[in-house]
Amino acid sequence: MRRRIIAGNWKMHKTISEALAFAGEFLGFEPWGESQAVICPPFPCLAPLAQILEGSGVALGAQDLHWESQGAFTGEVSGRMLRDAGCRYVIVGHSERRQHFGDDDERVSLKTRAALNNDLIPVVCVGECLAERESGRAEEVVVRQLNAAIQDLSPEILATMVVAYEPVWAIGTGRSAKGSDAAAMAEAVRRVITQSAGLSAAEGVRFLYGGSVNAKNAREFLQSPGVDGALVGGASLDPVEFRAILAAAR
Ligand code: 13P
Repeated sequence: MRRRIIAGNWKMHKTISEALAFAGEFLGFEPWGESQAVICPPFPCLAPLAQILEGSGVALGAQDLHWESQGAFTGEVSGRMLRDAGCRYVIVGHSERRQHFGDDDERVSLKTRAALNNDLIPVVCVGECLAERESGRAEEVVVRQLNAAIQDLSPEILATMVVAYEPVWAIGTGRSAKGSDAAAMAEAVRRVITQSAGLSAAEGVRFLYGGSVNAKNAREFLQSPGVDGALVGGASLDPVEFRAILAAAR
C-alpha cells in the first residue's frame, strides 16, 4: 500500500517569519490522517521550519539542489546541505527550473542521483507544455523526461521515488487537467518503470498530480486510479486551504 503524499511547493514565497506563522497555524489543526504532508519552502526557511516541524509528522522538502556535494558553485545548495538542514524530500526538474534555469534532462538525471546519494527522496517533475499536448505528444514527452531521470537506477531505489506529473499549461493558470488525464499518465509512468525495472518498482513509485490543485478539485485527482497525491503550488501557501486538501486525501 502506497502512502499518499500531499506536498506544498511554496516556490519563491514567504519570508522566515511568514513561514513560521504558517507553521503555527497549520500545526494547530487536527492530525492529518494517513497522508504524508510535505512542505517545500524557499532555502532560507528550511532550517527554522525544521525546528518547528520536528516530531509533528510533517516532512520538509527543498525545491532544488546542485548535483555536487560541495565546491565552487556560487549560489548553489547541495543535497548534503539540505539533508543537514532537515530535509527528507527534494523537488527535481520542476518545469520552472527547466524553463528558466537550464535544467535539461541531463541535469535532472544528475540531480536525481545527488538526491538519492544524500538520502533524500527525489520528487521528479515531468510534464508537457500546451503545444506538446495539443499535438498529441504529451505521453511521449513525459516518457522521455522520465527515462532520462531514472536511467540506470536499481529497482529497489526506483521503488522509493516520487514522480510528479505537472502539465505546464496547468501550472498557476487555474486550468487543471482532468482526473482522467492524471490517471492516464500514471498508467504510462508505471508502464515505463515496469519495462525498465519490473513490476514491484513500478508499484512502489508514488505518482503525484500537480497543476492548479485546490481544496475544491483535489478529490477528483486523489480518487483517480494510480494517483497517490498532489504537488500543490498556490493553494499550499494558505494553511487553511492546504489543510483542506489534506482532508480531501483522507
Ligand atoms: P499551482 O498549484 O500554483 O498551479 O502550481 C503547481 C506547481 O507548480 C507545484 O509544483
